[in-house]
Amino acid sequence: MHRLSRRAILIGGLGLGAGALTACSTNGGAGFGSSTFGSAAPEAPSPGQKVLLKTLVAKPTTLDVGGPKVATWAYGDTVPGPLIRATAGDFLRITLDNQLPADSTIHWHGIRLHNHADGVPGMTQDPVKPGTLFTYQFTAPDPGTYFFHPHVGVQLDRGLYAPLVIDDPREPGGYDAEWVVVLDDWVDGTGRTPDDVFAQLIAAGGAGSSSGGGMGGMGGMGGPQPWGDAGDVTYPYFLLNGKVPAAPETLSAKPGQRVRLRIINAASDTIFTVALGGHQMTVTHTDGHAVVPQEVGAFYIGMGERYDAVVTLKDGVFPLVAKPFGKTSGGQALGLIRTGMGSAPGPDVNPAELGGPVLIGSRLQPAESAKLPAKAPDATAQLTLDGSMQPYQWGMNGAVFGKNTPLTVKAGQRLRINVMNMTMMTHPLHLHGHTFALPSGLRKDTVLLAPMEQLPIDLDADNAGDWMIHCHNIYHAEAGMMIGLRYVK
Ligand code: C2O
Ligand code: CU
Repeated sequence: MHRLSRRAILIGGLGLGAGALTACSTNGGAGFGSSTFGSAAPEAPSPGQKVLLKTLVAKPTTLDVGGPKVATWAYGDTVPGPLIRATAGDFLRITLDNQLPADSTIHWHGIRLHNHADGVPGMTQDPVKPGTLFTYQFTAPDPGTYFFHPHVGVQLDRGLYAPLVIDDPREPGGYDAEWVVVLDDWVDGTGRTPDDVFAQLIAAGGAGSSSGGGMGGMGGMGGPQPWGDAGDVTYPYFLLNGKVPAAPETLSAKPGQRVRLRIINAASDTIFTVALGGHQMTVTHTDGHAVVPQEVGAFYIGMGERYDAVVTLKDGVFPLVAKPFGKTSGGQALGLIRTGMGSAPGPDVNPAELGGPVLIGSRLQPAESAKLPAKAPDATAQLTLDGSMQPYQWGMNGAVFGKNTPLTVKAGQRLRINVMNMTMMTHPLHLHGHTFALPSGLRKDTVLLAPMEQLPIDLDADNAGDWMIHCHNIYHAEAGMMIGLRYVK
C-alpha cells in the first residue's frame, strides 16, 4: 500500500488489465488505419547529396562488459553498437539485418526525418521479421548528438543501442578532442532478460504486494529531490560505453586540451547525475540544440536526453561519474580521463561535484539560433501522464496506448501541448519527428517532468505523418505510456 500511495494514479481512467497491454507493442493501436506499410522508405538522395551506407546486424551475442559476461542482443558484437556519424544534410541509407529471434525496428531518436523512416511498427512501418532486412533511407537535417534503438517491446533494455552524431559543417569546433559517452543500466544476461523484468513488474503490480518482488526504485517516501521516485527496476550494473566501473573506458588527452563530451542516456529506467571530478563542465547543447553556455559541476540526464559539454582538462586522472538517481544498489557508471601521471580512482569514486548544485537541464537558456520564431499558438492540446505501480499500468490522457486518442495537429500550426504529470514519478517525455520549445524557448526532444510538474511545450507542425509521444522509461512506454500525434487536414 505504501507504494500505491506514493505512485497512485491521481486521475481515473486506466481501468485496463495487463492483458490488454500486450497488443499495444505490436500494433499501432486504434486510429492508425492500415496495419501494413510499404517495405521500403520512399525516399532517394537528391543529386549531389552525400550518401552514407551502412548495415547493422541485430543478433544474439555474448559480451564482456569489463568482467561480467552477458548474453544479450546487440548491433554486432559491441555495446554500444557502432557509432554512426554523418554531416547535417547527408542522406543515410542504413539496412537493418534482423538476425534476432524476434521482430525489431530501428528508431532514430531525435532526428527530424520523414515519417516512413521513423521505425515505429504499426504506425510507420511493419515490424522487421526475424531473418529479414529493412532499409531506412532519410536525410539527417540537423546537427547534434543522437542515438538509435529498436521501437519494439523492451528491446532498448538489451544491448540494442548506439550513438548517432550529425556534424555541423559550419561549426568552428573549438575543442581538441571529443568523447562520445553512452550511459546505460544493465540487466540482460544476468539471470533475467528485460522481458522477464517487464513480466515481473506486471506480476508484482497485479499481486498487490508492496514488496515489488525485488523491484523498486528505492527512492523511499518522496525520494531524494528533485525527481521523487525515479525508477522501477533494480539493476546489477551501470555501464559507461559498455563497461562496468571496474574496467572503465579511458580517454587520453593532454593537460590544457579542450574536450567535447557528447553524453547520451540510453538507459531504460535510470536518470543519472553526471560529473567530471575536479572540473567544471560548460554545457553547450542539449538534444542537438545550442544553449547559452552554462558552467556546471554536475547535471541530471534523463533517459533519451543528450547533453554536450566542453571542458578544459587539468593534469592527472579524472573520473567521469554517472550516478544513478535514487537507486541504492548496482553502483554507478564510470569512465576515466587521463592527461598525466597518477593512479586511477576506484569504481566507487565519489567526486565532490556530485555533492554540489546539479543542473536541471530544462532550466538551461536557449541560444538565439535555437529559438522558434516568435508566434502565438494556433492550437492547444492537453496531455496528462497517468499511472501506477499497482497495477503496473502507465498511460496518457487517461488510457493506455491503443485506447487513448491521438493528439491531432494541422500542418503549419504552432501547437501548444500542456503537459501535466499526474503521477508521483518522474517521466522523460519524448516526441518523435519534431523538437519542442519550453516556455524559456529552450529546444528539446526529450524532457524530464518531475512528479506533478506541469509544462507547456510548443512545436511547429512541419513534418507530416503519424508520430509518437511517449515516456522514455521503456517499461512505462511498454505498459502504455505513449500516445500518437497525428496530422489531420
Ligand atoms: Cu528513443 Cu520513441 O524513442
Ligand atoms: Cu514514465
